[in-house]
Amino acid sequence: MKKTIFITGASSGIGKETAKYFVKKGWNVAASMRSPEKEEALKSIPGIKLYRLDVTSKEDLQNIASVVLKDFPKIDVLFNNAGYGAVGAFEKASNEEIRAQFEVNVFGVMNLIKEFIPVFREQKHGIIINTSSVVGRFTVPLYSLYCSSKWALEGFSEALQYELKQFNIKVKLVEPAAIKTDFHGRSLKVVKNEKVQGYDEMEDRILSGMRRRNDKASGPEVVAKTVFKAATDNSNKLRYSTGKGAGIVLKARKFLPTRLFNKLVFKQQNRKS
Ligand SMILES: NC(=O)c1ccc[n+]([C@@H]2O[C@H](COP(=O)([O-])OP(=O)(O)OC[C@H]3O[C@@H](n4cnc5c(N)ncnc54)[C@H](OP(=O)(O)O)[C@@H]3O)[C@@H](O)[C@H]2O)c1
Repeated sequence: MKKTIFITGASSGIGKETAKYFVKKGWNVAASMRSPEKEEALKSIPGIKLYRLDVTSKEDLQNIASVVLKDFPKIDVLFNNAGYGAVGAFEKASNEEIRAQFEVNVFGVMNLIKEFIPVFREQKHGIIINTSSVVGRFTVPLYSLYCSSKWALEGFSEALQYELKQFNIKVKLVEPAAIKTDFHGRSLKVVKNEKVQGYDEMEDRILSGMRRRNDKASGPEVVAKTVFKAATDNSNKLRYSTGKGAGIVLKARKFLPTRLFNKLVFKQQNRKS
C-alpha cells in the first residue's frame, strides 16, 4: 500500500521540496499550508492533496488528521516543518513577538502532534519528524528567540521518543544548516524597537553576514532527502543533521570544550566578510 506523509508549511522552501520529493518516490502527500488557494505548483501534481492549516489556529488543527484520513487510508509520517525566525536583539522584542515565535515553532508542533498521536496509536505505527536546526544544538547572537524555540523542540522530541516507543511511534529531528529558501527573506522577522539603542552595528554586521552565507547555502532538496531517509531507514535514530557544514559544526560542538566552541562562534559571527 502507498505510504502517506503529512507536511506543514508546504507552500515554500523545505516543505514544498519535500512534498515534491516524496511524491516522486511514490508516496501520497498531504501538503498543508496557510493559504492553499494561492498554491499553483503542487495542486496539479497527482498524489498531492492540499489542506488549509495555520499551525496557530485551533479551528484548523481540530480534526485535521481525520480530514486527511478521508482522502488517504493511513498516515505514516507527520513532518512538522512550518516555522519562521524572529531575530534581533532580545531587548527589543515585545512580549507578542516572543510569544508568536513559540506559538508557531513550538506550540504549533506540540498541538499538531496531539492531534496525530491517537491516529498513530490506532494504526499501531507512525513517524513524527520535527524540524529543528543546527542552532537547536548551539546558539548564535541575535537569534535568542529562534534558538530557544528550536532548543525547546529538541528537548521535547528527545523526551517524547521515550514515551511513544511502546506504541511503535518514532520521533525524529531534522537539523538543517543554512538552507537557501525564503527563510532568510520573508520568514525572517527582525524585531524592532526605536527606543532601544546600541545594537545597530551588531545587527548590520551579523544579519548581513547571515544573509551572505545563506547565498552560498545548500538548496532545500538536501533536506527533503534527509527527511526521506528519516522516514524510511527503519532505525530508531533521533537526530539527522543536513546541509553544507552541518556535520562539521555539530562535531565541533560535541568534541570542543564549550568555552572554546562559544569563542569560535562569536568570532565567526563577528567576521566582517
Ligand atoms: N532555511 C534555513 O536556513 C533553515 C535552517 C534550519 C531550519 N530551518 C527550518 O526549516 C523550516 C522551513 O523553513 P524554510 O527554510 O523552508 O523557510 P520558508 O521557505 O520561509 O518556509 C517557511 C514555511 O513555514 C510556513 N509557516 C510559517 N508560519 C506558519 C503558520 N503559523 N502555520 C503554518 N505554516 C506556517 C510558511 O507559510 P507561508 O508561505 O504561509 O508564510 C512557509 O511555508 C522552518 O521550521 C525553519 O525554522 C530552516
